Amino acid sequence: EKTWVRMVTAQTPTNIAVIKYWGKRDETLILPVNDSISVTLDPAHLCTTTTVAVSPSFDQDRMWLNGKEISLSGGRYQNCLREIRARACEVEDKEKGIKIAKKDWEKLHLHVASYNNFPTAAGLASSAAGFACLVFALAKLMNAKEDNSELSAIARQGSGSACRSLFGGFVKWIMGKAEDGSDSLAVQLVDEKHWDELVIIIAVVSSRQKETSSTTGMRDSVETSLLLQHRAKEVVPKRIKQMEEAIKNRDFGSFAQLSCADSNQFHAVCLDTCPTIFYMNDTSHRIISCVEKWNCSEGMPQVAYTFDAGPNAVLIAHDRNAATQLMQKLLFCFPPSSDADLNSYVIGDKSILK
Ligand code: PMV
Repeated sequence: EKTWVRMVTAQTPTNIAVIKYWGKRDETLILPVNDSISVTLDPAHLCTTTTVAVSPSFDQDRMWLNGKEISLSGGRYQNCLREIRARACEVEDKEKGIKIAKKDWEKLHLHVASYNNFPTAAGLASSAAGFACLVFALAKLMNAKEDNSELSAIARQGSGSACRSLFGGFVKWIMGKAEDGSDSLAVQLVDEKHWDELVIIIAVVSSRQKETSSTTGMRDSVETSLLLQHRAKEVVPKRIKQMEEAIKNRDFGSFAQLSCADSNQFHAVCLDTCPTIFYMNDTSHRIISCVEKWNCSEGMPQVAYTFDAGPNAVLIAHDRNAATQLMQKLLFCFPPSSDADLNSYVIGDKSILK
């Protein structure tokens, strides 16, 4: 019998939360303790490119990440593969003479090759883009009929934040109520055109791998932090409503105030966790001071900052002009010749390396 290969390639940008997800109520299904909201970055930068292939000549599922083979035996990969296989449909490619019946998908093996164009596990949400891209590419390969929200509930089982990368623009991950997780999925709040004057700059403080994984960190926070419980019950539900309003109205003042406050509360929860988690470092703190001083002196916020599970700063400027001024201020605070631990800036379509 003639052998064949069917391939699909997809590209998915990463997303950055402005109202953070931190804490799971179910670790296996990856169900969060609160809703979260993120902005999806421009697909031209910070994205994952994944090619998935199926062939009768493959004798096992295999995956390569940035050219190195990695194991697919982990529960998260297995859950995503199982869920997407269950939704596979018949595929017919007359040109290549390929016909795959629905039931064939159970026996056929997959090869996956994935590349990140940014540091893996350095607090730049690489797993978010990775699992979103994997699930999306597999859905196309297998002709699954689910829409992006339904696919987001599968990507969620790979990495929570991944569910938000199936859409562009601003995205909300609804925590859901169902025990089986079926209503814990992402919805698009507004598309990428709605607020396109925003400029996102990532100040890469360190591209080293983070010390505490988000899985361990979240588990410890859920078990030990009282602040986390207060945050999930009392703070985030209100903030989500205010943030949705700010985004809808392109109200940068409220947007910046809420983003910065929420990032700071997330890192306060980390401090409130036993054992304590430090994701930000001195350079991160200096960036916060620099931005806050400038915002205060202008009387109106020009830039919002937010930090994930690592020391890198994600800076969201009101417009190009504010972004240019921000770059000048950062270069002044962290001159290229100094030994401050600030390696590079990624700005819109430019990357300024030290
Ligand atoms: O999806 P995970 O397990 O990588 O967790 C991400 C957690 C944060 O990035 C810190 C916050 C968020 O909402 O993305």
